Amino acid sequence: MYFIANWKMFGGLNSLNSLHKVMKFFKTFKKKRIVKVIYCPPNTLIRPMTKKLKNSKIEVGAQNCHEKLEYGAFTGSVNSKMLKSVGAKYVIIGHSEVRKAGENNRLINLKIKNSLSSGLKVIFCIGETLKEKRKKLTKKVLNQQIASGLKKIKKSKNILIAYEPVWAIGTGIIPKKKELFETITFIKKKIKNLKVLYGGSVNSDNINQLKLIENIDGFLIGGASQDHKKFIDIIKKTYN
Ligand code: PGA
Repeated sequence: MYFIANWKMFGGLNSLNSLHKVMKFFKTFKKKRIVKVIYCPPNTLIRPMTKKLKNSKIEVGAQNCHEKLEYGAFTGSVNSKMLKSVGAKYVIIGHSEVRKAGENNRLINLKIKNSLSSGLKVIFCIGETLKEKRKKLTKKVLNQQIASGLKKIKKSKNILIAYEPVWAIGTGIIPKKKELFETITFIKKKIKNLKVLYGGSVNSDNINQLKLIENIDGFLIGGASQDHKKFIDIIKKTYN
């Protein structure tokens, strides 16, 4: 099971002070062999976080990258090679908050391709909006996002899929159990042998419901991951 913390645009150096508590928890956690914990902080914290986590099994990733592999005159951007060089092992691509700011499927495809060639593992986010869900377009949208996002990309275990319904992100609302099971099943049929995680308002209360859905391979956690107690609680409760 994967537990991925997406810190979004939150956190300064002092946010790293509680990491030792998560490390301490994880060191003695009985299920640590079957659990993978990954932190995706803002780029400014990747290097210091990697250093802090040096002696632990917890890994670090980024939340986005520029699509180009080379250096270039792209003010404010960072590419996958640069992320890799400061210690990132993963990168989130296709997050709905980035899509909303103008990232399209073609760009996502390029970012995934180049991130993989830089040696990063990709957490590829897909998910429908509320409008699309109401129009019963969920499967169609997911199909399209998968087909174009992974176009001409060899499927490998270096790609993880995160199903994040846009309407569930940051809203406190999660999909119904049956609905989520069916959607994850649908995704797994489309792309065989890849891990599929769920993301969207995962917290230390609803994890008791979410953990019952057998085909979920882990969680992408936003808001609740910034509080180490809540994050630890989510991991613990998954196995209680
Ligand atoms: P949330 O965010 O847990 O705050 O809903 C999840 C995400 O955007 O990855």
